[in-house]
Formats: sequence, structure tokens, C-alpha cells
Amino acid sequence: MKSLQLLSFLLLSCIITPANTYGGKKKEALGSQSQHTRTKKDQQNLETKFRLYTDTTEEGCQIFLNQLETLDKCSFNASLPLVIIVHGWSIFTDLLKRSAHNLPTSFSQVDGMLEGWIWKMAAALKSQHKQINVIIADWLTFAHQHYPIAVQNTRYIGQEIADFLEWLEKSIQFSRSNVHLIGYSLGAHVSGFAGSYISGTNKIGRITGLDPAGPLFEGMSPTDRLSPDDANFVDAIHTFTKQHMGLSVGIKQPVAHFDFYPNGGTFQPGCHIMHVYNHIAQYGITGITQTVKCAHERSVHLFIDSLLHNDKQSTAYWCNDINTFNKGMCLSCRKNRCNTLGYNIREERLPKSRQLFLKTRAHMPFKVYHYQFKIHFINEIQGKQIDPTFTISLTGTKEDAKNLPITLVEGINGNKTYSFLITLDTDIGELIMIKFKWEGTAVWENIWDTVQTIIPWTKGTRRPGLIVKTIRVKAGETQQKMTFCSQSIDNVHLHPAQEKTFVRCEDRFPRQNRK
Ligand SMILES: *[C@@H]1O[C@H](CO)[C@@H](O)[C@H](O)[C@H]1NC(C)=O
Ligand SMILES: *[C@@H]1O[C@H](CO)[C@@H](O)[C@H](O)[C@H]1NC(C)=O
Repeated sequence: MKSLQLLSFLLLSCIITPANTYGGKKKEALGSQSQHTRTKKDQQNLETKFRLYTDTTEEGCQIFLNQLETLDKCSFNASLPLVIIVHGWSIFTDLLKRSAHNLPTSFSQVDGMLEGWIWKMAAALKSQHKQINVIIADWLTFAHQHYPIAVQNTRYIGQEIADFLEWLEKSIQFSRSNVHLIGYSLGAHVSGFAGSYISGTNKIGRITGLDPAGPLFEGMSPTDRLSPDDANFVDAIHTFTKQHMGLSVGIKQPVAHFDFYPNGGTFQPGCHIMHVYNHIAQYGITGITQTVKCAHERSVHLFIDSLLHNDKQSTAYWCNDINTFNKGMCLSCRKNRCNTLGYNIREERLPKSRQLFLKTRAHMPFKVYHYQFKIHFINEIQGKQIDPTFTISLTGTKEDAKNLPITLVEGINGNKTYSFLITLDTDIGELIMIKFKWEGTAVWENIWDTVQTIIPWTKGTRRPGLIVKTIRVKAGETQQKMTFCSQSIDNVHLHPAQEKTFVRCEDRFPRQNRK
């Protein structure tokens, strides 16, 4: 698996080079590092190119520090907010370049190019009615290094962005509170350093970290990575924190006021390594990197999605961990427990950072609709645990969803309520009817019959089964709670291969249970 080798190389290059060249240096130590000392006079020669995105120029219109006329020339509008996009490490392009000797010469043009997502992000920010200045902070020359060197450079580039914002404030009274930094991977930490290096007590408005880089940042003190202190509001989307040789590409720990973990944050749907062949078919040899960075870059596309699909904003929910979330137990929006993923997040500063979870689709629009189902089962065969397979079909006011598989984490034993999460790709409207089916195979029937011959049942001649009286449903997106009862009240027993219909019955169960 070539992609795995690439990934290993990527992570190994972090381990081999001594990490202590960077180690626990404080942000304050920046000025003492000789490579970082520079005088105010040569600040026109920044390593970072600030390119104002316009619909007309291909590369963006470059604004130079201390050259006011470039603001005019590029039509920077000081009465509009400013978003600065900060890219990450360019190792993937670098790796490609190395292995590209046998590729057409045109391929080497990849070197020094900004990745495609940056322009998509810029265009998405400008699209619709969004009145903003969008600047791309191009630090490619400093990002095109061995990983540990690029990591060191994040502080330097952070300082340059801070200088740039201070200059905007001094020269045209552009308030830092109107600034939103969006940083991907290493760029997330660059943004964090920019936020902490900017002088004065006021902070910049917002920082969004898109799968902030993990290696050499995970577990570091808040001053050595992106942290909630770096801006008035900080949000982060974690999409590739799957561990590989003790490291993960994206940082796992919370680094923001709201940290989003789509699909648990470790890996993303549609990014499976097996898709490498599809990607190669689609993109040629670059398909390998497409696969490797798929989950990492998903954070970017989730954010772009939030800009492009106003009517499909994804909601995420506060939860302790993904396992609890997968049981459907966290779909509450009370007291800031949920928030919107991406650009339109509710900016609320809470004393402690919140980890939010959500499921997504494998492609845009990524939104899914989350439901908690709580079903009370009574297993009539006492002392015998069973592991049935169920499917559920939902009828809504707008659409139906048929034969959704239900996986119970634990077998059914005795008399207990089970909770699980179901997600739907489409909005079915208000839920009005549920069909609940016990998927019984022939094998199952046999086992069931055997069980019956061994354990005699008490209540008449009826076969014992599962008793399912009610199904309680909570819709995350609408926060609506509903109760469904078996259509045939006198027959609440479910047997293998049988399907039961449940209809709304709130009136039979007045709101006694507010959980
Ligand atoms: C700047 O933006 C404001 C608000 O949209 C607009 O009224 C104004 O005309 C713009 N200025 C320039 C120079 O484009
Ligand atoms: C199930 O448990 C509840 C309370 O835990 C009890 O009231 C009820 O009688 C039990 N039902 C059966 C059939 O055992």
C-alpha cells in the first residue's frame, strides 16, 4: 500500500529529526532566536505574501506591509471584515515532486503552488452576499521544508501575520476584532501564534483551526499551539486523528472553545484506503496523496460546505466520547450543548472548551439528520441473552427511509431500555410512523425453536418473544421528542422475521419523562 508508506514517511520524518530542536520553547523566546530577529525596517520583505483574493486576478492582489498604496490598488475595503486563510505544510506536494522523476515535466509545476482548496475556500467566502475581504497568507517557501523545520517556522509566520494586522490597525484603523483567521493543519498553529504575538491586550476576533496539525503539538502547553486564548473566539474541526505509530496527523486534544469531531474525528467516510485505486483512476498518480490527505482535508471541505449550503448547516452535539454519541445519548441543545459546524457557528465563550460530535455523509452536502431511538425490550426468555438484528423503516411527512439497519452494542437481556443513534441523509420531515422488523434468518428460527423446547413458557400457549411496547424518538435537528406505540395494543410480541408498526401516541403517554 503505497499510501500507507507515504503516511509512514510523513510521520517518521517527524520522529527522526530531533524534536527538541523545537521542544518546549515558549512563545516569548521567539525574539532571542537569531533567525527570527529582524528590524522594523526590513519588514517590507516579509516571507509571507498577503494576497487579496479578487474575482479578477488569478493569483490574488499582493498587499505589501508599510505600502499603503497597495491596499488601494487591491481594493481592500476597510469597512468590511477580513478573513485570512493560512495554509499548512506542503509536504504532500514535496513528496510528489521527489517521486515525480518519471513523470512529465509539466508535473514539476506543482512545486510552489497553492493547493486547490484555498481558492475554493476563498471563492466560497466571497460567494453569496458575503461582504468580506479575503486574504490568502502564502508562506509556501517556509512551509516547503522538513516537517520539524516547518513547525519552527509557524512561530515566525505567526509573528508576520501579527505584524501585518498591527500595521492595518495603525495605518487605517482596521480593528483586529474584525479579523478571522482560518488555518489548516500547521496553518492552524500559525494562526494561534499570530493571535498570541499581536501586541496589546485586545485579541483578534476569531480563529478557526481546520484539523490542526498533531505531531510536535499534541500535549504541548497552550502557549506552544493553537489554544482558546489566541482569539476572542476559537473553533476547531478535527478530522484525521487516527493514530499511526503513536502519532496522528491532526491534533486530538481540544484546542478551541468549541472542538468538533465529525464522525469521531479519527477518520472520515469516503476516505478509506481502499479508495486509493478509485482516486488513482480519477486523478492519476496524485491519487495517492488524494487518499492520504482525504480525511485531513475533510475539515476544509466541511467548512466550505457550511458556506455553500446555507440550508444544510450541520449541527454537532456536546458529548463525552464517540461511543456515547453512537448510542444516541447526546442529542441535546439545551444550555449550549449543540452548535453549528463551520462559518455560521454561534460564537459563545464558555469557561471550558466543549467537544462536539456529529455524523456526516461522505460528500457535500455533508449534513445528516440525527435521531435517538429508545426502545424498551422485555426478553421473555429469562436468563438467555439474544443478539437479534433489527431494521427500521421510517415514514415522515416529506419522505420515507426504508430498512435502516440497527446495531445494538450489547445483546438483549431481561427487561431494559436500549438507546441508539440513527442518521438520515435526507430530511424526511416530521416522523409519523415506524416499522420495526426483526430480521430473522432460518438459522435464527431454528435456534429460537430449540430455545423454546428447552425453556417452557408460562403465559398460555403463545411463543415467547420480545415485548416492544413503545419507541421513544428524539430528533436532534428539531429537538422534537415523540413517542410511538405498537399499532396493535393487544399484540406487542415480536418474533424473528416479524415486522411491527408503531404510530404516534403522545396522548397515551403524557410528558412524564423529560429525560
Ligand atoms: C466597502 O463596503 C461597503 C459596505 O458594503 C460599501 O458600502 C462601500 O461602497 C465599499 N467601498 C468600496 C470602496 O468599495
Ligand atoms: C420490567 O422492569 C420494570 C421496572 O424495572 C418493572 O416495573 C416491570 O414489571 C418489569 N417487567 C417485566 C415483564 O419483568
